[in-house]
Amino acid sequence: MSLKNIRLEVMQAIEPKVQGFMDSFLIPIEEIWQPSDFLPDSQNDNFFAETEQIREEAKELGYDFWVTLVADTITEEALPTYESWLMDVEGIDQHSGKENGWSKWVRAWTAEENRHGDVLNKYLYLSGRVNMREVEITTQHLISDGFDIGTDRDPYKNFVYTTFQELATNISHKRVGKMARQKGNGLLSKMCNIIAGDEMRHHLAYREFVKTIMGQDPNGIIEAFADMMKKKIVMPAHFLRESGESIGTAFEQFSDCAQRLGVYTAQDYIEILKKLNDYWEVGNIRGLSEQAEKAREYLMKLPERLQRISERMQFSQDQYKFKWVQANGML
Ligand SMILES: [Fe+2]
Ligand SMILES: [Fe+2]
Repeated sequence: MSLKNIRLEVMQAIEPKVQGFMDSFLIPIEEIWQPSDFLPDSQNDNFFAETEQIREEAKELGYDFWVTLVADTITEEALPTYESWLMDVEGIDQHSGKENGWSKWVRAWTAEENRHGDVLNKYLYLSGRVNMREVEITTQHLISDGFDIGTDRDPYKNFVYTTFQELATNISHKRVGKMARQKGNGLLSKMCNIIAGDEMRHHLAYREFVKTIMGQDPNGIIEAFADMMKKKIVMPAHFLRESGESIGTAFEQFSDCAQRLGVYTAQDYIEILKKLNDYWEVGNIRGLSEQAEKAREYLMKLPERLQRISERMQFSQDQYKFKWVQANGML
């Protein structure tokens, strides 16, 4: 049997459980928060006073902070790329006639995610600290450029990727929220924290998908996990560019910014890997094929190896001047 068929069979075998995953890890639409809950109400006479407060509080935040928040927002705004990518994954079938649990999941997950870019975009617009046109051009470029995360259409690799990535975004939104609070910006802090909460639920869901696959096809999923880690988990915005620049040119400067600020660092990458190894009990899996056993050993040794590499790693301390943010203050 081909590799592809095993994956399809596993996806089909798990499909009846997906509704249960949705009930456990997503929140019904009528109950979940909406961007408006955190933003000034434009139908209310207080709108201008509340917006003025946002603009005042925004002045306390520095250049690296804004660059990071803008890039986080753009990453969220490129959601069409992620939805179309996931819909194309083997076993996630939106054309099968009867409602397929996996495609239902992708739509519901997308619907939750869509609120993230929405709330952040509106906040950036009201803050008065950002060149929105430049942000919009970058967003349009990023969606148009797509991404290449090395997962192909393989559900195993895609779920390993999303498990990793949802936790990475949880960490970065949480840290941005903490910094905003330290600078007295309560509203932005609340927004970032509530987004971080969504990312955590999504992480827990994808982590469970992988765990369930592990019960069905441990060899396949361990090899897929190791393969993703060998390639390195690239950020979904790795093609980021500014207006007039070529593809991917803004990404490195943004990730240096996030490192300098401590919003998302090489150490976080290692910690996420360790958490995944623990939760999926990679250390305890026995009876694997020879090839999967090699992959398992690779995964077990990887955190230490990455630790040694990260200690030698350097990142730029120079502030690159992005077109998105006027350099007004270095707080
Ligand atoms: Fe998100
Ligand atoms: Fe997410």
